[in-house]
Amino acid sequence: MKFRAIMGALCAAGLMCGVSAAQAAESVEVLHWWTSGGESKAVGVLKDDMTKQGYTWKDFAVAGGAGAAAMTALKTQVISGNAPSAAQIKGPLIQDWAAQGVLVPIDAAAGDWKKNLPPEIDKIMHADGHYVAAPFSVHRVNWLYINKAALDKAGGKAPTTWPEFFALADKMKAAGIQPIAMGGQPWQDLTLWEDVVLSQGAGFYKKALVDLDEKTLTSDQMVGVFDTVRKIQGYFDAGRTGRDWNLATAMVINGKAGMQFMGDWAKGEFANAGKKSGTDYVCAAVPGTEKSYTFNVDSFVFFQQKGQKSATPGQLALAKTIMSPDFQEQFSLNKGSIPVRLGVSMDKFDDCAKKSYADEQVAIKSGGYVPSLAHGMAQPDAAAGAISDVVTKFMNSQQDSKSAVAALAKAAKTK
Ligand code: GAL
Repeated sequence: MKFRAIMGALCAAGLMCGVSAAQAAESVEVLHWWTSGGESKAVGVLKDDMTKQGYTWKDFAVAGGAGAAAMTALKTQVISGNAPSAAQIKGPLIQDWAAQGVLVPIDAAAGDWKKNLPPEIDKIMHADGHYVAAPFSVHRVNWLYINKAALDKAGGKAPTTWPEFFALADKMKAAGIQPIAMGGQPWQDLTLWEDVVLSQGAGFYKKALVDLDEKTLTSDQMVGVFDTVRKIQGYFDAGRTGRDWNLATAMVINGKAGMQFMGDWAKGEFANAGKKSGTDYVCAAVPGTEKSYTFNVDSFVFFQQKGQKSATPGQLALAKTIMSPDFQEQFSLNKGSIPVRLGVSMDKFDDCAKKSYADEQVAIKSGGYVPSLAHGMAQPDAAAGAISDVVTKFMNSQQDSKSAVAALAKAAKTK
């Protein structure tokens, strides 16, 4: 009676309606790296949804963009027998974790997923014929964000080619504006580098970074990619070492810098700061990549709890909530992404998200829809890590482009 009375009161207060005692008791521990302003708001939507359903949310947030630190923490947790209920894992790493025999299938939560997911993404959520991961949203990586006042002051328009880009950067410089805000971690270097690879065409990108084709990796065109990156570096400020991505975004938000190359999680920061696309900032595809789309799909996997081979009610509720239409909309509105679930209305989204959605449809049809290497979608960890080392070494030394290309071809063979 007492329990019922408490639950009744909570329900009247808009919390925990119709939950069982078992649900109320289950706490779900969730490991993720969403700690910037926009990211926290987005994951907060999931926490609130789960709390309303009667689960206790145990937040295990490990700061660090793109998740390198989070992945290290996760390995320690799993090895010591304390795997979280769910963890942020994506791309080929999903299958790697499944192969370790530590995940639980979540088919029971995935009744209507197949018809509501693009086939290439549905496939990534599977291991051994079972759903083992739940997808949140689609981030486009190949974006350039531009402060609108800086763009106007430089008298420019959003660049669509590298010559236009460099002309704009020069104009910003002449107007006393720091042209590019850049962060200082390997994944940010790799994000910029893959943008420049993509600017050579989606076909070139696929051959180089998906097929790891040696001829493409060692081509003159690839030497040119490194040359372009070197030229772009000439517009960085001196303080980038160790800088987090969101601090670089803040420089563009506050007008301390003109532009940033970053995936559209940066848009979550603009939104969190109350900035509007078109008025305060402009989003443009990275020069030369208008027709292409590097995708990055975040997802959660679910770990066996206390040796149990099947998912707990809390894990299934988490998976179901992540793919529910309402959550998909609210999460992406805060995160800067677009819903991964098909058929979710784009009405409430801004112009940049609508452009992302429209460009995605075009890119899927034209073969321009490619997985992001820098964000764990294109290659297993070992090869991606080795390539990342090559790019970071190049960007933090005076190495010439030809020797970087030779190192790249070698790195691509890492298994
Ligand atoms: C990406 C992740 C995004 C965003 C970004 C920066 O790898 O997919 O959701 O959080 O890192 O942390």
